[in-house]
Order: sequence, then structure tokens, then C-alpha cells
Amino acid sequence: MGGLMARPKVDYDRIAPEYDQRYAAGTNTLRGEALLALAVGLHADRILEVGCGTGHWLAAIGSVAQGLVGLDLSSGMLHQAQQRRGPWGLVRGYARRLPFEGDSFDLVFCVNALHHFERPRTFVHEACRVLRSGGALAVVGSDPRERGDSWYVYDYFAGTYEADLRRFPAWETVAGWMAATGFERIARVDVERIHDPKCGRAVLDDPFLSKTACSQLALLTAEDYAAGLDRIQVDLARAEARGQALVFRTDLSISMLAGYRAER
Ligand SMILES: C[S@@+](CC[C@H](N)C(=O)[O-])C[C@H]1O[C@@H](n2cnc3c(N)ncnc32)[C@H](O)[C@@H]1O
Repeated sequence: MGGLMARPKVDYDRIAPEYDQRYAAGTNTLRGEALLALAVGLHADRILEVGCGTGHWLAAIGSVAQGLVGLDLSSGMLHQAQQRRGPWGLVRGYARRLPFEGDSFDLVFCVNALHHFERPRTFVHEACRVLRSGGALAVVGSDPRERGDSWYVYDYFAGTYEADLRRFPAWETVAGWMAATGFERIARVDVERIHDPKCGRAVLDDPFLSKTACSQLALLTAEDYAAGLDRIQVDLARAEARGQALVFRTDLSISMLAGYRAER
């Protein structure tokens, strides 16, 4: 493989206190159910979430495992996860160098985090190393290349879509890394569809429109962020002048790509 691709960094220590605003609407249960079903099917007792953030998904599957561990690079995010006081251990570390022995886990998963790892392919290798034979790696998230998806954030904030094409590996790429690393029975399933249109000025109350709510906006300069908000305001005013209400679309598919570690 070639050299490291420079990845823009989101400052999760700063975002941590507000991060869970994205879960306020309570629309994120299906991802948790898919992870739970996978864990139950594997009789997984030892589970690792990499890029666990504030522990939302640890809490979602906390009931099934005796040995649940969350790993994250951001101490601010880990502090939030700690505040939940759930049945899990927390470790600060890098996805590219998991601080665990081989055969430590039955299931390793990450949610909306792979595109933040500076070496996502190395993470796949590391997940393979720390899994037992037959254990599973599950990567949950989205791919901006997905046909049929739309998100008004990409339309109004210049450069966000192009940046995501650079940041997010395609599902096929991740599946290829898994196959080359020693995973088998690799399959992707759609686990959730986020359909959350905002009509007219309701868009201004969308929690995802805040600068710290998603990495696409957090990575923008203050000027570029303000310019995007201005574009929304201009379009709202124009539509209102015509007696129309604009619809701002959020229609995103969330998939889970899972593979099972082949026998050593
Ligand atoms: C978008 S958040 C997702 C958090 C959580 N999985 C969720 O879905 O709510 C991405 C997380 O990945 C973490 N992260 C970024 N780079 C990392 C790395 N190299 N190793 C481990 N964690 C990392 C960030 O600190 C952040 O908490």
C-alpha cells in the first residue's frame, strides 16, 4: 500500500460535551438491534467497540456481554462514556494499535468511526489479530457514494460532499481489506434508513445543523460554515416570498459490513 493519506482531524475533546445531541431524537435504535443480534448469534461475551465515543452503542448492547470494552482516542469522549457508569471498561488508544493480546474478543465493532481512523486498513488487521477464530468484525456506517441517498448538508455547505468522498472508504474497499486480512463470509446489510426531512424553517432547529453536531460541519472553517447557513437563509426567504415551503432532505442508508475471522 502507498503512504498515509492525510486526514483532517475533528477535535472530539471539544465536541464531547455536545456530541450526544445527535441521539436526542431517539431515532438510532436499529443499529443497536443489528449489533445485538450479531452479538447474540456469536454468543459473544467479550466485545470491543473501537471509536466508542460517548458510549452510546456500548449502552445499547451492554446487556449481553460480560467483558465489554470501549476504546477511543479522545479523553473527552471517554469522559462522557465514563459518566454513563455502564458495565464496560474504557481504554484510551489508537485503532491502528489495539492494546490487547490476540484472541481477546468474540466481536469487534465500530460505528460511524472508520472514516476517522488515520489507518483504517491497519485497524482491520488489528481487529483480525485480537479476534478469536470465528469471531466477527462489524463496521457500521454510511458511504457517501450510496445511490439514492441525499443530505441537504452536502448541498448547502461547499466542499462537504467532496471531502466525504475522500474521507470515507467505499464499502467495497473495506470488504476487500477484510478479505485480504483473513475474514470470510463478508456481507453487508442495510440496517437503518434515516429519513428525516425538514420543512421550511424547521431546518434551523435540526440538531445536525449545529457546527459541532457532525464531522462534516465541524471540519469547516467558521466562514465556510456561516456561508452555508446564509445559503439556507436565502433559499428559505426566496421560497417564502413565493409562498412555498422548502423541504430539506435527509435520506441516508446505514449499513453493517460484517466478516468472520477464518480459522488460524
Ligand atoms: C463520530 S464519533 C463515533 C462515536 C461512536 N461510535 C458513536 O457512533 O456515537 C468517532 C469517534 O472515533 C474516535 N476516533 C477518531 N480517531 C480515532 C483513532 N485513530 N483511534 C480510536 N478512536 C478514534 C473519535 O475520538 C470519536 O469518538
